[in-house]
Amino acid sequence: MTAPLLRTKAALRAAVLGWKAAGESIGVVPTMGALHAGHLSLVEAAKAGCDRVIVTIFVNPKQFNNAADLENYPRTELADAEKLAPFGVDAIYVPGPAEIYPEGFATTVSVAGLTEGLCGAHRPGHFDGVTTVVSKLFLQTGADRAYFGEKDYQQLQVVTRMARDLDIPCEVIGCATVREADGLALSSRNVLLPADVRAAAPALHRVLRQVAERLRDDESFGPVTAQARAALHEAGFTEVEYLDLRAADGLAPMTRLDRPARLLIAAWLGGVRLIDNIAVG
Ligand code: PAF
Repeated sequence: MTAPLLRTKAALRAAVLGWKAAGESIGVVPTMGALHAGHLSLVEAAKAGCDRVIVTIFVNPKQFNNAADLENYPRTELADAEKLAPFGVDAIYVPGPAEIYPEGFATTVSVAGLTEGLCGAHRPGHFDGVTTVVSKLFLQTGADRAYFGEKDYQQLQVVTRMARDLDIPCEVIGCATVREADGLALSSRNVLLPADVRAAAPALHRVLRQVAERLRDDESFGPVTAQARAALHEAGFTEVEYLDLRAADGLAPMTRLDRPARLLIAAWLGGVRLIDNIAVG
């Protein structure tokens, strides 16, 4: 059965108040729609961990640093509701822009440090947009737990810190990246990949695995990543924005494997920006 589509925060609040009064726990899966199996795995985790589950769908203009990217972002509300139907979620919150950013909205939630490198360096303002909307979604839904994919690893770290710093009583839970059979991490942007370059896309994950292996063999980071970048250009990627080794907790830059790390990458293929990351060490 399709879950009720709630379009206003008043409707959401009424539902949430009832659940809280009954002592039920609430999980939220924040999304921008164009749902794929990665999102659905978050919904499954939320269903397993909470009495009530809300999926939010809001294409957040404040986190797009590029007008064309915002315009081209896939919007598939009906198909999304159908995909959620088998999971028995309790509500799909689809707020209009004024429910999130009413006239005169003047507040930005910003996390320092963690947002400065990686995607933050290439997408100015992006993480401020994410933390501003996510803090609002946490407060509007009153969720006890929120589920995010590890594919956006920096985002996961940033929203975890944001909730902790602001004492928002919502536990942030990271869930493993879901991949296509060929290794490409699922993303709503994958549908934008031109057919003639789609076959090159798994090179991103393949290169990450190769770099991780060579780092484990104690090779030095500089030459290994230079070769990885060259391999991606050879495969058809037009730009590698970053390929970085960072501490898994806190994202401090690393050059050798002396603690649990994450290897993170962003690169352009066929006019589409792809990101991925894997655990190392
Ligand atoms: O990961 C996303 O889809 C978005 O950044 C999020 C967390 C839904 C905030 O708009």
